[in-house]
Amino acid sequence: MDQDIKEVLISEEAIREKVRELGEILSAEYAGKNPLVICVLKGAAFFMTDLVRQMNIPLEMDFMAVSSYGASTQSSGVVRILKDLDTAVEGRHVLVVEDIIDSGLTLSYLIDLLKRRNAASVKVVTLLDKPHRRTVDLKPDYCGFVVPDAFVVGYGLDYAEKYRNLPYIGVLKPEVYR
Ligand code: XMP
Ligand code: MG
Repeated sequence: MDQDIKEVLISEEAIREKVRELGEILSAEYAGKNPLVICVLKGAAFFMTDLVRQMNIPLEMDFMAVSSYGASTQSSGVVRILKDLDTAVEGRHVLVVEDIIDSGLTLSYLIDLLKRRNAASVKVVTLLDKPHRRTVDLKPDYCGFVVPDAFVVGYGLDYAEKYRNLPYIGVLKPEVYR
């Protein structure tokens, strides 16, 4: 796998330190609120499970799967719900955990959906942000790292379902997906 990576952008240690930092901030923010922490599958799976273990407060977890990409590296703008939540969000303080925000289309769709379901609050924590590529007006409430406009993989992020199990975030060699 490593031979398909052009460059390591964020090391395993840097991720661990950032997740610890975010967990501390979010613990303070959500203390006493029993938040519903929603993982957007599959990309946010590692981030979510690492993050909640750094949150020393009562919380609940749920999982949602949406698709906006297919096997391409470009957002189609069409968001499909592949797996919905098991939990009712009405009146709940919801924290959406994302792997990466690119165009912002996926997340703005999700935020609208959760607001329509009458969540008490909806906030977003994303591990990575690619702000230069935004096509909708959306800013994450909490962000781990801002990344350049390159296709990144690892720590949950995939290309055609591969590389998710890399422990770091890396830039894929263009010849791998071209
Ligand atoms: P949008 O454009 O809707 O897309 O903000 C967000 C989703 O697109 C995926 N995505 C990526 N996945 N490397 C990946 O492995 C990337 O560089 C990348 N950019 C976007 C991701 O699933 C995210 O939730
Ligand atoms: Mg995703």
